[in-house]
Amino acid sequence: MKSRILSVLTDPLRVRMMDHRSTMDPNHPRDLLDVLLARVDGETDPESPFYNGDNNNNDKSNDVKGASIVTDDNNNKLAGKAIAGSVSDFGYGDLTVLNVLVDLFMAGMETTASSLAWTFLYLLHHPEVQRRVHEEMDLALGRPGHSRRPPSLSDRRRLPFACAVIHESLRMTGFVYLGFPRFVTDPEGVRVGRYVVPPGATVLPNLFHVMNDPDYWHEPRWTFTYCFYFNQLEYGK
Ligand code: HEM
Repeated sequence: MKSRILSVLTDPLRVRMMDHRSTMDPNHPRDLLDVLLARVDGETDPESPFYNGDNNNNDKSNDVKGASIVTDDNNNKLAGKAIAGSVSDFGYGDLTVLNVLVDLFMAGMETTASSLAWTFLYLLHHPEVQRRVHEEMDLALGRPGHSRRPPSLSDRRRLPFACAVIHESLRMTGFVYLGFPRFVTDPEGVRVGRYVVPPGATVLPNLFHVMNDPDYWHEPRWTFTYCFYFNQLEYGK
C-alpha cells in the first residue's frame, strides 16, 4: 500500500524523466532536469550519488508495475506495463535525480505556495502593513514603472520590515506543525533542559509549540506581531 501511494507521486516524475532523457541535448539543457540527467550520464565516479553504473538497477522495489493512473502531457493514459519496462533501467544516479524532484514537488511546492497564500491573506487584513512593505520596496528597489528591479537575497538588509512580516507570517501560520523525527544515538542519552532523552528514543520536535510558546510570545496567537522581529532582529542595523 505504501509503495502504491508513493508511486502516485513518483510515476509521473519517472515518465517526465524518461521523456527528458530521450529528447535532451546535453549541450543545451532546457531546465534543471536536463542538467541533472546530463550530470548522471557523465558521472564516472562510482562513489558519487549521481553514478548510474551499468544502468541495471536490480532493486525491483523501484518497479512500477502496479501503476495504473500515469498519464503523459496530453493526458493519455500510459499503461503500467509499458512504463515498467523502461523504469527497470533506472540506475542509482537516476534515483538520486528522482529524489531531487520529489524534494522539489513534495517539500518545496505546497509549503511555498501555502506560505505565500497566508502572507497575502494577512496583508489583505492589515492594509497598513501592506502599505509599509510597499513603501520600503519603493525605496530599496525603485518604484514600479520607474526601473523597479526584482529583489535578491542581498537586499534583505534594505528590506527589514518586509523580512519581519515574512517571519511573522511563517510563525503565525505554522502549518508544518512537527519537525522531522530524530533518533537518540548517544548511549548516554541527550540532556534537553532538565530532561534526559534516553538512548534509542525517537524525538518529534513540536514546532507549533516553539512558535507559540507563551514564555516567549506574549502577544495573543492571532496577532500579527511583526514588531517583535523588526525591533529585535539584526535587520536594518
Ligand atoms: C515556506 C516554505 C517551507 C517551509 C515552511 C518548510 C518547512 C520545513 C520543515 C519544518 C522541515 C523539517 C525541518 C526539520 O525538522 O529538520 C523541512 C525540511 C526540508 N525541506 Fe522545507 N520548507 C519550506 C520550503 C522548502 C523548499 C522550497 C524546499 C526545496 C526546494 C524544501 C526542502 C526541504 C527538504 C529537502 C527538507 C529535509 C531536510 C533534511 O533532510 O534535513 N523546503 N522544511
